[in-house]
Amino acid sequence: MRVASVAVLVLAAQAVAGTAGSAPSLEGAWAPSGHTFGPTCEWQVVRRSARGTCALDATAGSAAGLYDVTGGAGRRTVHLSGARPDGVRLHVTARVMGDVGRLRFRVHGPHVHARGTATLARVGAANAGWTYDSMCGSCHGADARGTPGRPAIRCSARAVDTARTGLPGMQVFPPAEVPTDALSDVQAWLQTLCASDPPGVAAADLYASDCARCHGADAAGTSNVSGIQGPDLRCRSYQIIAAEISDGDAYMPSFPELTNAEVSAIGAFVRGRCPTTPPPY
Ligand code: HEC
Ligand code: HEC
Repeated sequence: MRVASVAVLVLAAQAVAGTAGSAPSLEGAWAPSGHTFGPTCEWQVVRRSARGTCALDATAGSAAGLYDVTGGAGRRTVHLSGARPDGVRLHVTARVMGDVGRLRFRVHGPHVHARGTATLARVGAANAGWTYDSMCGSCHGADARGTPGRPAIRCSARAVDTARTGLPGMQVFPPAEVPTDALSDVQAWLQTLCASDPPGVAAADLYASDCARCHGADAAGTSNVSGIQGPDLRCRSYQIIAAEISDGDAYMPSFPELTNAEVSAIGAFVRGRCPTTPPPY
């Protein structure tokens, strides 16, 4: 995962409010537009002073990390500087015009030197795709159709909860790294992908034809005609489901013909049956 994702966020609503009428709002969270190299920053302005955080992602090499920054704000310009926990310093000057900005930055420390410029865009609903890309895309795929071992999530309605709780193989994204608004924006963005191009995999049919005979129609477990006892699957992790499907088990066949999208769909079908109070295994 690229670390840049971190520091992000604040509401598009605030940005809009800021541009309506009075002085343009400098406040908010800003990320390089496109995929240019540069810090992603979030700051607040109180009178003429500014305070916030900036993050540089792994493409910044040894300059990567999270920096707490403070400084001053003029009508259109913010100057910030601060240090990473190990003392490496970052200086940033951002010139903001409406919802875009120009940023110059410099990083220095005993063995760290980097400088550059970047074009900034406000982070919010308008670039939820960017947020997704930098935080989730490396595992779930650029189009959210999943990658081997990681499920498709374009039609999942659980982006916010899942990011907060984490799962086996998926880290927790705490509020300090990603505000809830940003996750809701990602959730809404995923929903648009799902609506414009649904997965086209009939999960219920696949499950019924490949799994139900041993695990029961509702995945709560059953024993089949030859007395093989298929366990309750409903709250099993996606990773376990994917591994069993690909490798099989003592009494369970493997299903090498199932594609990643199909495995992902079966995983979602099974997990969708997990009761709120999980069964005692
Ligand atoms: C022929 C019967 C049979 C079929 C078909 C079958 N399974 Fe299984 N499955 C089992 C049995 C039996 C086990 C317990 C491990 C063992 O003894 O093989 C199991 C174990 C599992 C486990 C591990 C559960 C745990 O608690 O660790 C998962 C996950 C699983 N199956 C998923 C599936 C899925 C998904 C399908 C359909 C693609 C499927 N199985 C099809 C019989 C079957
Ligand atoms: C390091 C890889 C990784 C990253 C980064 C990652 N995920 Fe996941 N995610 C996984 C894996 C692995 C699973 C399946 C876990 C399991 O076995 O149940 C998963 C599962 C999910 C699920 C399915 C939950 C369910 O119950 O079916 C959702 C939704 C999800 N991730 C959303 C996200 C979002 C949103 C982000 C970005 C904020 C994200 N993930 C980032 C690896 C990742």
